[in-house]
Amino acid sequence: MTRFVEFQGGDVDAYLAAQENKDLLRFITCGSVDDGKSTLIGRLLYESKMLFEDQLSALEADSKRLGTQGGNLDFALLVDGLAAEREQGITIDVAYRAFATSKRKFIVADTPGHEQYTRNMATGASTAELAIILIDARKGVLTQTRRHTFIATLLGIKNLVVCINKMDLVGYKRETFEAIEADYRAFAASIGAKNITCIPASALVGDNIIDRSANMGWYQGATLMGHLETVPVGDDQSAKPFRMPVQWVNRPDQNFRGFAGTIASGTLKPGDEIRVLPSGKISKVTRIVTYDGDLSEAVADQAVTISFADEIDASRGDVICAAKSPLEVSSQFEVEVLWMGDEAMLPGRPYVIKSGTKTLPGTLDKLKYKINVNTMEHAAAETLTLNEIGVCNLELDGPLAFAPYTENKTLGSFIVVDRFTNTTVGLGLIHFALRRAANIHWQAMDVNKSSRAVLLRQKPTVLWFTGLSGAGKSTIANLVEKKLHSKGQLTYLLDGDNVRHGLNRDLGFTDADRVENIRRVAEVSKLMTDAGLITLVSFISPFRAERLMARESVGKNEFVEIHIDTSLDEAEKRDVKGLYAKARKGELKNFTGISSPYEAPENPELRIDTANLSPEEAATEIVKFLEQKGRLAAT
Ligand code: ADX
Repeated sequence: MTRFVEFQGGDVDAYLAAQENKDLLRFITCGSVDDGKSTLIGRLLYESKMLFEDQLSALEADSKRLGTQGGNLDFALLVDGLAAEREQGITIDVAYRAFATSKRKFIVADTPGHEQYTRNMATGASTAELAIILIDARKGVLTQTRRHTFIATLLGIKNLVVCINKMDLVGYKRETFEAIEADYRAFAASIGAKNITCIPASALVGDNIIDRSANMGWYQGATLMGHLETVPVGDDQSAKPFRMPVQWVNRPDQNFRGFAGTIASGTLKPGDEIRVLPSGKISKVTRIVTYDGDLSEAVADQAVTISFADEIDASRGDVICAAKSPLEVSSQFEVEVLWMGDEAMLPGRPYVIKSGTKTLPGTLDKLKYKINVNTMEHAAAETLTLNEIGVCNLELDGPLAFAPYTENKTLGSFIVVDRFTNTTVGLGLIHFALRRAANIHWQAMDVNKSSRAVLLRQKPTVLWFTGLSGAGKSTIANLVEKKLHSKGQLTYLLDGDNVRHGLNRDLGFTDADRVENIRRVAEVSKLMTDAGLITLVSFISPFRAERLMARESVGKNEFVEIHIDTSLDEAEKRDVKGLYAKARKGELKNFTGISSPYEAPENPELRIDTANLSPEEAATEIVKFLEQKGRLAAT
């Protein structure tokens, strides 16, 4: 095993420099422990002498004690041991392991777990240039083989190595290998996967892993390591137009202002003309600064600080581009989303979208379809759950400079973050921008909200009543409206049951439908506010995410959230419409409080405790609140 480099003493600097100059291949392994993945990774680490003494002696002792491989080393025990260590660290989903041969350095992302395979694969695959797909020669192409291949291809991994493993268990038969290869290639062609290399191997015995197998003289191709060492890598991002997302603005003193970031593609020299997006401002590069001094040229993947000839503005999230070939800018896209959240993706719900260094609020629209990752079929769907993949439109609250994912992984991808838990719940890949976004412009009107408000002598306001079914929302809202009306205020009451007879009659009570129900009502109440009205909205509106969306869309100064707080026990006791009884009997699905959640407001402007206040008293209190806040005309 002399191919692997081990530092034997001597000139440390020379050794490190030699390592530094070797190119790097990042790859992932897809497959389960059953396919021999642990054994394969264990063997690669062992042969490359990348194990610590104590790990090695533990491996020898465990192999002997368990005797799983008849006295030989059981590499699976090694990787499984590392996996156990990792599990204690809980937050790490993907383990990266490095090793080197005399030709190349390698980083392998071990993406464990069946449960969260999309998330793990996506994390490992985001930087990988090659994927090893393991197939058990006894089993052939399985559903999971197709799934892994599809996700690897989707994530833009350019090289696929199909390691047809455990050939020792099928008598090293050429026909078995060839049948599996043909099967795999037919499938791969159907999803457009390219650059496929199939290698018959046994990770356990060592056939065709490092050394050519004496047992398969019929195979003339490279060994796995031979292939990994020689496959061309690096999809030359430096040859593409210049793009750099701004990470931060560096302004140590009055004399210097630089924009720091990592170059996503292209090369840059002082004197080059650049354009900052989305503003479109143009300037020239004066300096390219790094910790090691100024550069006369910088290329993709380098972290640099750029200064411009003009005082133009750029901030975190902007993208600096070659002036002559800028990126496209849009706020609406067709995207492919891999869902990683434990809670389902809900179309219309606001999420935080992070792309490159840019962070914007955004929503994912109704799904066009989801993709069955086992059969590749498209199916209609309302939501995406953990590990599911679908295609929909993304609408951002502001402009984003982007490239399609197929052109640039950094500028063409984004993560979806839950606004409340702050966890990453999805990964998105941009297909293209929607033209419609570019062609619709907001029309400024001369008669506007404030001129209407003056005419009506009132401050347009939304009174948002939330609470369980039967809490008393409609009763109280109705009384409030009567009082406001008699005070000469122009009002409108939007009531859940009523709106569901018209505008929202296509919606039911699934989580996704409730999100859409509230999204539409929030839009309508925004229009009514613009019309100058005091709008009363009486909907269960069970999710805080959508109530926050309504607040933000109307504007927080014009939004009053009123929690009609009635306990479930009390609402059920009243059961005015007999719906609780039905829900308890199982005749009504997704009933709020029983089989669907109600997330009570944490900081409503008003909380009405119906155990202590009659509807009349509650209405009086609400009107008093509006008067105190100066929302009503003095009478
Ligand atoms: S919301 O959750 O989407 O805001 P909305 O306020 O529009 O609900 O409608 C709630 C009304 O629909 C209830 O007052 C009740 O009369 C009726 N309803 C019928 N089925 C359900 C259900 N499964 N859950 C809650 N309310 C239901």
